Amino acid sequence: MGNVLIVYGSTTGNTEWVAGQLSEQLKAAGHSVQTAKAGAIPAAGLCEGKDLVLFGCSTWGQDEIELQDDFIPLFESFDSIGASGVKTAVFGCGDEDYTHFCGAVDAITDKLTNLGSKVVGGKLKINGDPGDSTEAIKSWGQGVISAI
Ligand SMILES: Cc1cc2nc3c(=O)[nH]c(=O)nc-3n(C[C@H](O)[C@H](O)[C@H](O)COP(=O)(O)O)c2cc1C
Repeated sequence: MGNVLIVYGSTTGNTEWVAGQLSEQLKAAGHSVQTAKAGAIPAAGLCEGKDLVLFGCSTWGQDEIELQDDFIPLFESFDSIGASGVKTAVFGCGDEDYTHFCGAVDAITDKLTNLGSKVVGGKLKINGDPGDSTEAIKSWGQGVISAI
């Protein structure tokens, strides 16, 4: 059984819903799962003792990538989360009509890689209503589970 943490930033509830789906899937696979809003968990040592940390974040802004509001302070403290050597995975909701579709997922993945984390499962980028992407979410969740 793995010790899994899901941390998400979500303004209108889409990424939060995906976090809930993934939590259920991981629990059903026998893992211990803690879920936290990005603004409600201290950055320091966040990854310590975890077998896998999932980061979920929606993307905002127009011409530039902006992370979801709650996630910004956490991201600014990412150097302290203890990501080196820890498995992580990144997901998020966005809209393909924007220049940087799910740019937050790219930014978080790049930062985790630079910090020495092993980012698993590829990037889960969801366009529009996540309720229309349940199969893609399940399939990604399965890939992440098999990487634990
Ligand atoms: C002002 C505004 C800017 C946005 N900018 C982006 C963007 O740059 N890239 C993107 O993929 N989606 C963008 N979106 C779409 C949101 O990320 C999308 O609605 C997402 O589902 C919100 O997820 P959340 O409810 O988890 O916060 C934008 C939406 C708004 C209203």
